Amino acid sequence: MKTIKVGLLGIGNVGSGTYLALEMNCAAIEKSAGVHVEIAKILNRRPEAKRAVDVPREKYTADPYEIINDPEIQIIAEVMGGIEPATTYMADALKAGKHVVTANKAALAVNGKQLQQLAMDNHVMLRFEASVGGGIPIINAVADPLVSNQYDEVLGILNGTTNYILTKMTENGADYADVLRDAQAKGFAEADPTGDVEGIDVANKLSILISLLFGKRILPQDIPTTGITSISGIDISYATEFGYKIKLIAHAQRTPEGLTYSVEPTLLPVSHPMAAVSNEFNAVFVRGNAVDELMFYGKGAGPLPTGSAVLGDIIDIANCIAKGAAFDVQPLLHYDSKMPSLGEGSAQYYMRMTAIDRPGILGHIASTFAKHDIGLQSVMQRAGDNDRKTSVPLIFICYTTERRILNEALNEIRADGYATSIDAVMRVQDR
Ligand code: HSE
Repeated sequence: MKTIKVGLLGIGNVGSGTYLALEMNCAAIEKSAGVHVEIAKILNRRPEAKRAVDVPREKYTADPYEIINDPEIQIIAEVMGGIEPATTYMADALKAGKHVVTANKAALAVNGKQLQQLAMDNHVMLRFEASVGGGIPIINAVADPLVSNQYDEVLGILNGTTNYILTKMTENGADYADVLRDAQAKGFAEADPTGDVEGIDVANKLSILISLLFGKRILPQDIPTTGITSISGIDISYATEFGYKIKLIAHAQRTPEGLTYSVEPTLLPVSHPMAAVSNEFNAVFVRGNAVDELMFYGKGAGPLPTGSAVLGDIIDIANCIAKGAAFDVQPLLHYDSKMPSLGEGSAQYYMRMTAIDRPGILGHIASTFAKHDIGLQSVMQRAGDNDRKTSVPLIFICYTTERRILNEALNEIRADGYATSIDAVMRVQDR
């Protein structure tokens, strides 16, 4: 049986998961793929650090170019994360004629275009199934059998850490900081969890999905992004009363005017299939013009689920090499759509504000919304919900409006002094 040698750049959470998944399933892989995959060398810049897997020390090197320039290594899996030096190593590996597999959403979101071009120029494959949705095979699924569709909308729960935190806050009323620590201990969160909780990780993943599904290059920094750090228990319980769950949602939609996109905490009707996605699970929900609604569900974080997606790409490539099959160097990411990029579009919104408890205030606020042509679907005021006797929390859900117009109305409400603070504004997914 032919042996295909692989080099791993990194042996952190994802690298260890990839190594372990291969150890666990080696015999089955050989039987079904007819090829022996060997992880021959591993970049480990901290050989003294304790790792989750037991690797023979001779496989370790501190020099990435010992892997990139090794003539026996045909596939390189980049699992170190971060934009640099990962992008440079991947580019050099592609130039050296190696196939590259990566889990690196940040590098792909920013440099995917150049890396994909390098792969095509050098007639090698660049595969990145693990970069979005961890173990969920979303990339290869939408790029391959579903290529017959034009996609109209995508909704993603794309971060295990934040979904885990929101689930525990919703189910047990747990404290944000405690749940975050728990997620870090389980290996879901990045070393610096800012990227997770501020939505940056999700913006990277949405940027990749947008080029895959809609053929546009929207850099993560150009995606309107709000994380989960200001979500309070009170909004979670009001949302529950209104029949919604709050999830951090990546959303993009083709509209007659152009492509809209955002990453933000969103109220999902409890009946929506995405509302049932809990803990570190991720899901991607797409609407195609031929296939209609599809949902992909699985573990979006953690060493083994992510490692399994990395390994899947490695095995696919190894299989092509072993069979002498033509390499599939067709680009997965597309950047040629002329559709205008609009950012946040129109939606229904949930709003919580603190208002002075005086006759006529609710009427003034409702008239300001009406002046901006914003209709109110639901309104709630309960004096007992606030410990200050002179003010009350007011909760509104409005009908579909442009976010820009809503902001104008809210600024006016605040400037006129009807509300002392606007405490929360969140998108509501209507279907
Ligand atoms: N920190 C990420 C998450 C890992 O929590 O989903 C996968 O990108």
